[in-house]
Amino acid sequence: MSSGKILPKVFEKFLPAIEASLQEIFSEKEKNILEKSMAYSALSKGKRVRPVLAMCSYSLFGKKDFETIAKCSCSLELIHSYSLIHDDLPAMDNDDFRRGVLTNHRVFGEAMAILAGDALQTLGLEMLTLYPEGSNFSHKRLKALKIVLSAIGREGMALGQAMDIEEKKEDFKEEALLKMHYLKTGRLIEASILCGAIWAGAKKKELKLLSIFGKSLGILFQLSDDILDEVSTAEKLGKTPGKDKRDKKTTLVSLWGMEKSLQMVEHYLSECLIALSPFGGSAQDMREIARFVAKRDF
Ligand code: IPE
Ligand code: IPE
Ligand code: MG
Ligand code: MG
Ligand code: MG
Repeated sequence: MSSGKILPKVFEKFLPAIEASLQEIFSEKEKNILEKSMAYSALSKGKRVRPVLAMCSYSLFGKKDFETIAKCSCSLELIHSYSLIHDDLPAMDNDDFRRGVLTNHRVFGEAMAILAGDALQTLGLEMLTLYPEGSNFSHKRLKALKIVLSAIGREGMALGQAMDIEEKKEDFKEEALLKMHYLKTGRLIEASILCGAIWAGAKKKELKLLSIFGKSLGILFQLSDDILDEVSTAEKLGKTPGKDKRDKKTTLVSLWGMEKSLQMVEHYLSECLIALSPFGGSAQDMREIARFVAKRDF
């Protein structure tokens, strides 16, 4: 990341394996135009929160062989990159900047941006069927794939984005807004955490606790995104701030006001920490990520 953007120390443990895998996925020298468009967005400088969460969740169970899950953790970043490309399209949020550079459709055109999003999504899913490699992971691969599929489709992220579009026409109340936040952003975050735990062989009870944690972290993530849209700068965010207001979007910030929104950040952070308490000392890294999500400024 560029200077001024400080990621917590925990990211350093996982980022080298994540960045190396992403480079490898797009290592083909002679890229066709679709691959160029996919690589443009996937390799641009994002925080990599979702693959970091998957790896951190894996390590929560004492696992240290991060190479084993590097590729499948990156699948979550590919799926996230797809969602950002489509989210930025003129028919959706109509944004010109993302991660400090022009949005995909501004460089490659709308048609190619749509296709790059499509192909990043399917590539991400394909990688979940292939990794972690080995027959001892076959059951876990299927389980993780099912979690991600249900998190991003008609009952998950796509529905959340549909509600976000409809929100402009309807008068959204708190309950519907929280549902929309959870669906469009929370479900992939929760799924990333669950994937890491599944690859590590977590028990049902542990998955349940992590699911509760993931739900709170997911809402916290979108709440802080909405706050940053109002208070941060283009330089910090790498995207245009003030867009939610300009587009007259109902967000939790417009509903609650800034003061209550900041209080609710503390509320969701404490929910996150409570959900992690049964994991004791082994969840220190996860706590650090939750605190970062609450206090981040980019
Ligand atoms: C932005 O996600 C879109 C939301 C779901 C709020 P991130 O804040 O994780 O974006 P990058 O990946 O770091 O660019
Ligand atoms: C995006 O929410 C959620 C998804 C991409 C699924 P936003 O529209 O608020 O994200 P930004 O602010 O453009 O990153
Ligand atoms: Mg949007
Ligand atoms: Mg947007
Ligand atoms: Mg936003």
